[in-house]
Amino acid sequence: MMFVKLEVVAVLVFARAIPIYEASYITTGFGAPVTHRGASLTIGPRGPLLLEDTEFIDEMAHFDRERIPERVVHAKGGGAFGYFEVTKNITQYCAASLFSEVGKRTKIAVRFSTVAGERGAADTQRDPRGFAIKFYTEEGNWDLAGNSFPIFFIRDPILFPSFIHTQKRHPSTFLHDGDMQWDFFTLRPETTHMLLYLFSDRGTPDGFRFMHGFGVNTFKLVNATGHHVFCKFHYLSNQGLRNLTAARAQELQSVDPDYALRDLYEAIKSNNYPSWTMYIQVMTDMEAMNTTFNPFDDTKIWPENEYPLIEVGRFTLNENPTNYFQQIEQMALSPSRMVPGIKPSPDRMLQGRLFSYPNLMMKVENL
Ligand code: HEM
Ligand SMILES: *[C@@H]1O[C@H](CO)[C@@H](O)[C@H](O)[C@H]1NC(C)=O
Ligand SMILES: *[C@@H]1O[C@H](CO)[C@@H](O)[C@H](O)[C@H]1NC(C)=O
Ligand SMILES: *[C@@H]1O[C@H](CO)[C@@H](O)[C@H](O)[C@H]1NC(C)=O
Ligand SMILES: *[C@@H]1O[C@H](CO)[C@@H](O)[C@H](O)[C@H]1NC(C)=O
Repeated sequence: MMFVKLEVVAVLVFARAIPIYEASYITTGFGAPVTHRGASLTIGPRGPLLLEDTEFIDEMAHFDRERIPERVVHAKGGGAFGYFEVTKNITQYCAASLFSEVGKRTKIAVRFSTVAGERGAADTQRDPRGFAIKFYTEEGNWDLAGNSFPIFFIRDPILFPSFIHTQKRHPSTFLHDGDMQWDFFTLRPETTHMLLYLFSDRGTPDGFRFMHGFGVNTFKLVNATGHHVFCKFHYLSNQGLRNLTAARAQELQSVDPDYALRDLYEAIKSNNYPSWTMYIQVMTDMEAMNTTFNPFDDTKIWPENEYPLIEVGRFTLNENPTNYFQQIEQMALSPSRMVPGIKPSPDRMLQGRLFSYPNLMMKVENL
């Protein structure tokens, strides 16, 4: 298994040298023009193939690896490209270059997903939605792998594997199992807050465009003179919120299981570009020591009357992928990818994620 993953990385790192999807002619994985796509090199008309046929080997290597294991969570998803534009000056909080001046634009990629469903699962099942953003900044890629709800089910990452297993198939029956799920929820009361979101209408959003996104974890922002604040990220839909009724969500599971992917793709294709406005909430060290709740606990929100939303910018998705597998399926997103000015806080869930995502390196970075 490990060997296969390393192979994938090796082949596709070369594939990135010249973006194949941008070339106007057929290339090998390493970007050179293909000279003989229609036939293998052989020894004469009836002879065997030649090992020196690097174009044949390259073709097969790509084909043999065009299925990679699906993500262990967030397997079903879609995505698009666009840009983030700074609308407000937050340099007093954060020195990251992407926030350096109002009007500055940074290219982004976004991957939306459901969490528990397998890669072929329907888009409209009740679930939080993954809402992960990759910012291609000049100081490196910053990944904000957020969700559609501001909080999470648990506060200790050691419970993540057992929690996720309750959402997947039962080990003996291979069926989804309500008892298994509700055992977890009822035995872990810290899940209650998230359950209230999940079983509200927002548990079945109308596609990906009509939902908000949140960084969920608490981060630390550092400014140019080295001072820090703790921070929560919010990105609110400029399309507003829309949800599906339970009946419509269920109907779509059978008649259009790719409803959310289709909706996103078609909106962008018809130049109806979705956008979100990004905000931060900030908290100083002194405030963090004084709160009645633990500000590093992901099952809690920070009250907006005490820690108001501060506008940062807006991002817009205006470009569909042209090669889903290469650009979206293989997009590797990890909370460990931070840039100068953005750092971890003592948030235990974030700390757990910092190990978990880079540990799998199954997909390559798409720079
Ligand atoms: C300690 C708890 C957690 C662990 C161990 C964990 C682990 C993982 C893993 C292993 C993946 C698959 C990554 C891949 O295959 O590329 C993943 C995906 C993801 N997780 Fe988590 N996760 C945790 C908590 C969270 C939380 C709190 C959020 C909400 C912000 C979140 C949001 C996401 C998103 C959005 C993706 C999909 C990223 C993409 O589109 O590729 N996870 N998680
Ligand atoms: C942005 O804010 C910082 C700190 O508040 C200030 O020093 C700087 O002049 C501001 N920049 C602009 C362009 O307003
Ligand atoms: C960084 O934050 C501190 C504390 O709020 C402030 O005094 C300082 O002026 C800030 N530095 C910049 C460059 O904005
Ligand atoms: C979607 O759900 C939210 C939260 O329950 C609610 O505020 C909103 O009115 C709903 N919108 C629609 C169109 O159902
Ligand atoms: C700490 O909390 C108390 C009570 O809520 C408040 O009066 C005080 O101003 C807070 N101190 C700081 C440093 O935030």
